[in-house]
Amino acid sequence: MNNNNFIIPHEGKIKKEDRQRQKKHKSAILWFTGLSGSGKSTLAHAVEEKLFEMGIHTYVLDGDNIRTGLNKDLGFSAEDREENIRRIGEVAKLFVDAGIITLTAFISPYKKDRELVRNLVDKDEFIEIYVKCPLEVCEQRDVKGLYEKARKGIIKNFTGIDDPYEEPENPEIVVETDKETLKESVDKIINYLKEKGHLQI
Ligand code: ADX
Repeated sequence: MNNNNFIIPHEGKIKKEDRQRQKKHKSAILWFTGLSGSGKSTLAHAVEEKLFEMGIHTYVLDGDNIRTGLNKDLGFSAEDREENIRRIGEVAKLFVDAGIITLTAFISPYKKDRELVRNLVDKDEFIEIYVKCPLEVCEQRDVKGLYEKARKGIIKNFTGIDDPYEEPENPEIVVETDKETLKESVDKIINYLKEKGHLQI
């Protein structure tokens, strides 16, 4: 039993819409999902740079700032991955409320965990971006040397090797990092945001 029943919300006068009006653009979560080494972080940061140049308020959540801090108590079991994504979703929701275009770069291998985050925010505020890249290519890149360790059994439950990755069924955007240049993928995402009216009020 905790005291959650006694939490009475205090409603502030300044709402999400007020913050968006001040910033002159909408806010949303750009949820990058894909295998380790598919290019999620690279892409999220490249999109952020482009948005920043356009005067858009942004923030990137990725393993570097989440798994080393807020989620440093979590590992890679199915339960821990679920909790990892749940917390990131809740943080991203707060960033959306703050009026910020929030880019998240996590494998997020389970469909149900991604859907949970989708349902935390309004319909047009969750943009799932499938960073698609064949396992063979990710493994060949092996940027962090982790696939080699997983193949040798030094790391267990590695996504794509001995742990599942459930592909998105209806992502808003698909980028194929083995076929497109970084610029092409970035442009695809920026154009989507422009077309759907996210970048202005
Ligand atoms: S998630 O599955 O919970 O979404 P997350 O994106 O936070 O994963 O972290 C994945 C990163 O952690 C990988 O890019 C890799 O560097 C590292 N990692 C360490 N162990 C594993 C593992 N067993 N499976 C996948 N990635 C791992």
